[in-house]
Amino acid sequence: MKSNEVLERILYLRDLINKANYEYYVLDKPTLTDQEFDKYLRELENLELEFPEYDSETSPTKKVGGEVIDRFKKVIHKIPMLSLPDVFDIMEIEDFNTRVVKENIEPTYVCEYKIDGLSVSLHYEQGKLIFASTRGDGITGEDITHNVKTIKSVPLTINKPIDIEVRGEIYMSKKVLEEINKKRELEGQPILQNVRNAAAGSIRQLDSKIAAERKLDTWIYHLPNPEDYGIETHSDALTFMSELGFKVNKEANKIVKGIKEIEEYINKISNIRHDLPYEIDGIVIKVNSLLSQKQLGFTSKYPKWAVAYKFPAEEVLTKLQDIVFTVGRTGRITPNAVLEPVIVMGSTIKRATLHNEDYVIMKDLKIGDIVSIRKAGDVIPEVVEAKKERRQGSEKEFIMINNCPICGSVLEKKKDQVDHYCVNLSCPARKVESLIHFCSRKAMNIDGLGIEIMEDLFNMDFIRHIPDIYALHEHKKDLIELEGYGNKSVDNLLAAIEDSKSNSLERLLFGLGISGIGDKTALLLVKIFKNIDNLMNATYDDFKNIKDIGPTLADNLYNYFHNIDNIELIEKLKTIGLNMNYLGENERHHDLISGKRFVLTGTLTFMDRDSLSNIIIDYGGMTSSSVSKKTDVVIVGDNPGSKYEKAKELNIEIWNEEKIKDIVNNLE
Ligand code: IVH
Repeated sequence: MKSNEVLERILYLRDLINKANYEYYVLDKPTLTDQEFDKYLRELENLELEFPEYDSETSPTKKVGGEVIDRFKKVIHKIPMLSLPDVFDIMEIEDFNTRVVKENIEPTYVCEYKIDGLSVSLHYEQGKLIFASTRGDGITGEDITHNVKTIKSVPLTINKPIDIEVRGEIYMSKKVLEEINKKRELEGQPILQNVRNAAAGSIRQLDSKIAAERKLDTWIYHLPNPEDYGIETHSDALTFMSELGFKVNKEANKIVKGIKEIEEYINKISNIRHDLPYEIDGIVIKVNSLLSQKQLGFTSKYPKWAVAYKFPAEEVLTKLQDIVFTVGRTGRITPNAVLEPVIVMGSTIKRATLHNEDYVIMKDLKIGDIVSIRKAGDVIPEVVEAKKERRQGSEKEFIMINNCPICGSVLEKKKDQVDHYCVNLSCPARKVESLIHFCSRKAMNIDGLGIEIMEDLFNMDFIRHIPDIYALHEHKKDLIELEGYGNKSVDNLLAAIEDSKSNSLERLLFGLGISGIGDKTALLLVKIFKNIDNLMNATYDDFKNIKDIGPTLADNLYNYFHNIDNIELIEKLKTIGLNMNYLGENERHHDLISGKRFVLTGTLTFMDRDSLSNIIIDYGGMTSSSVSKKTDVVIVGDNPGSKYEKAKELNIEIWNEEKIKDIVNNLE
């Protein structure tokens, strides 16, 4: 074939495949058979391989995945990605309607399904997909372009060569989740709990091949810049996006007038929602006129022109088979309900926490009771009540234990506290729990060192303390001989352990299990202190001056880093070769922000203080709650308090809202 013929054929095949994808995934009306589709796709792949000069990022062959990234880049949303205020009953919807009518706005709404997934923003330039990002905290999201490209219903090119941003939901169908879980169960992997976590977990894969296998889908429901296209109503925006080639849920949106019609729509959908192939957790109600939307405006968190009605939590009955006790890494004892497995809102529930002795007594639970279990969305399941009328007399009283179920030592309960504790520092359960925590996904993320394996390795004396994890390779031969550990899985495990040495510091800091320090606080701390030595040398006040760190956490941190055992542990981990620095998600830098200490006071109108604080931290600055000589800049909004006076007194640089707004708007 001549070069121009090759290009012509490539372009023809791309068109054909894009059209077939659209018909199959968006319109749900396939025109090609699977065999025909595969044949054309293979031909295109081969041509692109043979003639790389004609390869293109927007070719439909990119939908099979293959790109692997190191980490997710941060993306600042030019228009914040707000979420919606939740309402739970018709009265709250009436309140919303009253607020709308009070502004002399016609109460015409679009009701839509509230899809249970994660929101996404898609950006097109000249009609080509250039990047996609998650919502994140609404101000900054993560760049997930490589994975979004693999979603079949997301067009890589749209029907008009325009610049546009659209937003919608990425979701996983109920059937796909079921199939994945069947496979995972066979492979002995933990099941994915629900469609939302499954979709979010899939989209956060670094390797897009894995994301592609997860068969994600989209519904597009929001156009942030309708005025750019001369569009006047939300329903027209939906039609416009559908015409561009996006998957818009036509059956699932309806123009309604007034409260009565909203109620009718909600009742109708509540009855059919379990028959839908995907999960919805409510109904979104949006004012249809975009001019009226503008008039109503926003609060710092939500639009005032829409609400999300959430379906009531689902309750099912099951049997409370037993109450068992677990010991956490702090020694806290938790009673847990062992339940006859039931499915609630798409997840199988076998256990539910009963928190503490008082909780079980308050609910008057007996072993053998029929209990109702409630689960709402991604909230953890809860035992609502015992069905006392169904008791048969054979149920057993709950008795709180006095001794640790693992080491047998007498439990302690401090005055005025509800929890019992095992205070034996060498209690194996506490140790195993802290080792499991160290390896867990949000900590060092060592795949393969879960609960059961860790218990085995602990009992065999292979791992007793954190540094032993990094010496596990010395037991390679023993591990391979053990039942259930193949050669390959041992290799994978040892590789995962080795890889974890280069984790960014926040994972290690969270993994150390300092009381009260969760993964978010760990990240905040390492963004500020940058390396472990700075953390170890910090004073109590250095910690306490950080916004969001109160006196208890500051105390915990200071004490942890001044305890001789902990200092030895950290030194040992340094010798083993663990990374002790914050590696940064993107190492953002701004001359006016990086390395400076800020205090925020007064009300800002362009963005709330928490979001601004996050941006400052992202760019290597730090924020604290009080003004001192160490403060570099005080940012002053409306009605500033005494901090403003103190800043003037100490001659500290003061920025007004205009200045910081200008800087933020010009950030990369
Ligand atoms: S509109 C500015 N419409 O629900 C308003 N959101 O609780 C943008 N969601 O973050 C959102 N279905 O992830 C909208 N039909 C729908 C939706 C929807 C699901 C999600 C979305 C949003 C969250 C708000």
